[in-house]
Amino acid sequence: MQLILLGLPGAGKGTQAALLAQRLGLLHISTGDLFRAAAAEGTDLGKRAQEYMSKGELVPDEVTINMLLERIARPDAAEGIMLDGFPRTIPQAEALDVALDGQGRQIDGVLYIQVPEDLLMARLTGRWNCPSCGAIYHELTSPPKASGKCDKCGADLTQRADDRPETVSTRLGQNRAWTEQLADFYEKQGKLRPVDGTGEPAEVTTRLLEQIDQVSAGMGKA
Ligand code: AP5
Ligand code: MG
Ligand code: ZN
Repeated sequence: MQLILLGLPGAGKGTQAALLAQRLGLLHISTGDLFRAAAAEGTDLGKRAQEYMSKGELVPDEVTINMLLERIARPDAAEGIMLDGFPRTIPQAEALDVALDGQGRQIDGVLYIQVPEDLLMARLTGRWNCPSCGAIYHELTSPPKASGKCDKCGADLTQRADDRPETVSTRLGQNRAWTEQLADFYEKQGKLRPVDGTGEPAEVTTRLLEQIDQVSAGMGKA
């Protein structure tokens, strides 16, 4: 099964993808996480991506598409993928369709996590991340048990440079139009599944699983 999690910055893509991918046996691929890992390693790709990410702008398609296509061609992606933060543009979506078609598979469903924009700023500016295992926290809604330490691995938590309020505004502004265009693109393919992203994370997970069950049923597997 190939699924996409679509949604504005802070909608909960990373939080939900970590839970769902493990439960469903899919490989979670976040292009944002791949870029941040490359930046931490100081590779040319990472340096190039960092120029855009630090401003809250999209990394150019040619860089992003090559990185993602290379990742989904590896053996560990063959059993199924859950894409988080990709595609973000129509050329990315088209390149993904062509690549999957070449591998004899396709996108089965696009879960569009919808959250009113006035909630997103507070979600992002209160976020803390584990640089070691990738766990995601929020200082108010899902704080770690010991302040500043990851519950899962004990590492010191960090905040993303692009979660400053000014950069969050740019990210929301940039992503708003693209997200709508992608929603239209997948609606026309009959794959779009809007999901209410408000409420407790566990409630959102339940709603997503209901939609994924319907995707599986449509594939003749449920
Ligand atoms: P990326 O890392 O993908 O960032 P994003 O899309 O801006 O999304 P976020 O990771 O900020 O939010 P999320 O939806 O994952 O929310 P989360 O679960 O963390 O991309 C970063 C940058 O990389 C881009 O700006 C761009 O420069 C570049 N890039 C990446 N992909 C690209 C592409 N395809 N093309 C071009 N450039 C690309 O949750 C957020 C917070 O809310 C957390 O604190 C969490 O604890 C909390 N929370 C989650 N769920 C709930 C809930 N139900 N209730 C209350 N709080 C909640
Ligand atoms: Mg994320
Ligand atoms: Zn951790």
